[in-house]
Amino acid sequence: MNILAIETSCDETGVAITRNGREILANEVFSQADLHALYGGVVPEIASRNHIIVLTKLMESALSKADLTKADLEAIAVTYAPGLIGALLVGVNFAKSMAYALGIPLIPVHHIRGHIAANYIAYPELKPPFLCLVVSGGHSQLVDVRDYTDMSIIGATRDDAAGECFDKVARVLGLGYPGGKALDDLAQGGDDKAYTLPRSTIDGHPLDMSFSGLKTAVLNLIHNADQKGETLDRKGLAASFAAAISDTLVPRTMQAAAEQNYKHIAVAGGVAANSRIRRDLESAAKDADCTLYLPPLFLCGDNAAMIACQAYFEPKPGLLDNLDLNAYATKPL
Ligand SMILES: Nc1ncnc2c1ncn2[C@@H]1O[C@H](COP(=O)(O)OP(=O)(O)OP(=O)(O)O)[C@@H](O)[C@H]1O
Ligand SMILES: [Mg+2]
Repeated sequence: MNILAIETSCDETGVAITRNGREILANEVFSQADLHALYGGVVPEIASRNHIIVLTKLMESALSKADLTKADLEAIAVTYAPGLIGALLVGVNFAKSMAYALGIPLIPVHHIRGHIAANYIAYPELKPPFLCLVVSGGHSQLVDVRDYTDMSIIGATRDDAAGECFDKVARVLGLGYPGGKALDDLAQGGDDKAYTLPRSTIDGHPLDMSFSGLKTAVLNLIHNADQKGETLDRKGLAASFAAAISDTLVPRTMQAAAEQNYKHIAVAGGVAANSRIRRDLESAAKDADCTLYLPPLFLCGDNAAMIACQAYFEPKPGLLDNLDLNAYATKPL
């Protein structure tokens, strides 16, 4: 089954085609990061406008790379939640028009389900149930994936997402936007004990997390050093910060897997690209005799291949079922 998927939930425009869910035939991603970097973060209106500008070209390019015509498509999938509402609406309306014009079904996909599904592409043998750590720009969650479309959150951040935290610290260090990757690069070779940073816990909720205290501690540290004219150990700070995030995520992931009796652990979302988190997860999974699924970097950040993959596992709608589909800024998993 050839599914063409559209992803426009934030500042990446994605169009992809997969065959039978797990095989990528084309995966076109246009990142608008440079357009938003000027403002230090995503400007929703600019994101929506640029999705409109590039979508048709990306769709044509995806079909050409997959060596298919529109007549070969059997369904259109689209991210309909959660995300920037204007940006989502561009994708939803584009997908609706395509599905209606081609006379094929429209499959709505939840963005976070898509991030999780990136693992099915990377690991053809992976099947639920498993535990998934979702760490992205807007989410930090431990998800009990009981089946392809049956999952629940068993632990989550109470405030900032890990990616948000990486981006804010990176911005104050002058590393640009989005800064997660730059902060990761800066941390290479740095002393992860150079600075003592907090690791928050939530009383009575051991699987929940909080990153706002860590973020504030790092921002205060940078501003204080600046005011006193002290030289920061930037590499050490980046490494200490990555260690604090990893020390929050990794033990909770292992505890959640143990509580659910899972020996299979997957990771999803843009922050899953972080080298410290990947290294710590690999070593913790080895110690616990668990199999770890880490998607390759191109499937960690936003892309439409993961949306097409998840669509394959969602219930197949009738031809006219979703033509009244709306977009939602937030939506439960
Ligand atoms: N190597 C890295 N280390 C840490 N963070 C990283 C790395 N690479 C990317 N990131 C972060 O990943 C985030 C982007 O991930 P993703 O595209 O999944 O998020 P999003 O789509 O904006 O949010 P969500 O999926 O929650 O809606 C950014 O915060 C970015 O800084
Ligand atoms: Mg995302």
